[in-house]
Amino acid sequence: MKLLITGGAGFIGSNFIRYWTSNHPDDEIVNFDKLTYAGNLENLKGIEKNKKYSFIQGDISSIEQVTKAMDGADIVVNFAAETHVDRSILEPAPFIITNVAGTQILLDVALKFEIKRFMHISTDEVFGSLELEDTNKFNERTNYNPASPYSASKAGSDHLVRSYYHTYGLPINISNCSNNFGPYQFPEKLIPLAITNILEGKKVPVYGDGLYVRDWLYVEDHCRAIDLILQKGRIGETYCIGGVAEEINNLSVIKKILNILEKDESSIEYVKDRPGHDRKYSVDWSKIKNELGWSPLHGLDEWLTQTINWYKDNQDWWKRVKNKDYLKYYKKQYGTV
Ligand code: NAD
Ligand code: DAU
Repeated sequence: MKLLITGGAGFIGSNFIRYWTSNHPDDEIVNFDKLTYAGNLENLKGIEKNKKYSFIQGDISSIEQVTKAMDGADIVVNFAAETHVDRSILEPAPFIITNVAGTQILLDVALKFEIKRFMHISTDEVFGSLELEDTNKFNERTNYNPASPYSASKAGSDHLVRSYYHTYGLPINISNCSNNFGPYQFPEKLIPLAITNILEGKKVPVYGDGLYVRDWLYVEDHCRAIDLILQKGRIGETYCIGGVAEEINNLSVIKKILNILEKDESSIEYVKDRPGHDRKYSVDWSKIKNELGWSPLHGLDEWLTQTINWYKDNQDWWKRVKNKDYLKYYKKQYGTV
């Protein structure tokens, strides 16, 4: 079996390639990635020696590059995207070009090559926001109601993927997953930003009142869910994926990190809120549990500690990532470095 993985040099994509090469060692993997600021071949250190693995630098919005890369593939797993909400607020255009137009190009080429399964990795953010007091969760029947240019672009891509199934019969699956955390996550996202700032002796910026709730999932659980969908998921179906049920707000997550790193709350700095900030995400993952037998195996407390240890042990990795361009972005976003 040959898999084309797009966006495999990013956070989840690189974790997925590590997962796949150890669980399906006979499969061939082509990693197709533009290497934007978020793409980093260091995330795949060691994997490049595997004879079944190859890397192609390319852009999913180039039909020529995608055609070359997809030739001979059986399965496509599309992780490639612009992924950071705050950057989408600063500059929406790249989100539309990659997430919407790029996905459409992948779909066209997948049709041409009669790909056996097109797996599109999406997000729970397409559903918009829950109220803090809501007891209901997002599920596969929840209406789309995206609030940021990022989530709107992911919603657009999901609609396109589904339309290629209904209109052309392309064998697709979509997964809508909640917030991932774990090794190799770019330090613009809350958890790695908080860990690395604390390790550098800097403050942790908390948006608004800090009482926003996310549904945290350890990245390996996400990889295992995608594996099960590829093996046993019903063609044309969407699966929601989420963490161990625990509604926890950003302040509490940051306090856990401070506690593990033996720092006090003077490291917290309240900053201006994200415009259009979604209050709460919470995912009902009973469909994937009942149909495919998946449930998350990694709890937040233990795996947050493991993740912090990874960032402590891999300071060279994140210090290289927090480079000149990163600091430029940071200054633009937070007003200080
Ligand atoms: P990331 O930002 O860490 O990585 C994205 C990767 O895509 C990078 O390697 C980048 O170079 C590549 N890329 C960007 N534009 C490209 C283009 N035009 N052509 C080819 N490659 C391109 O993202 P991530 O957090 O690993 O997310 C991966 C996918 O999972 C995304 O589709 C995202 O929407 C989805 N997702 C993420 C989360 C999360 O919590 N991180 C949760 C649910 C879903
Ligand atoms: O829900 C899945 C989504 O999770 C993915 O689709 C996105 O790609 C991924 O970036 C993530 O989006 P969020 O916006 O939820 O993640 P982020 O880490 O940016 O923010 C998490 C919460 O923390 C959110 O409420 C905003 C807040 N926050 C974030 C940053 C970066 C802060 O309070 N301060 C910060 O500096």
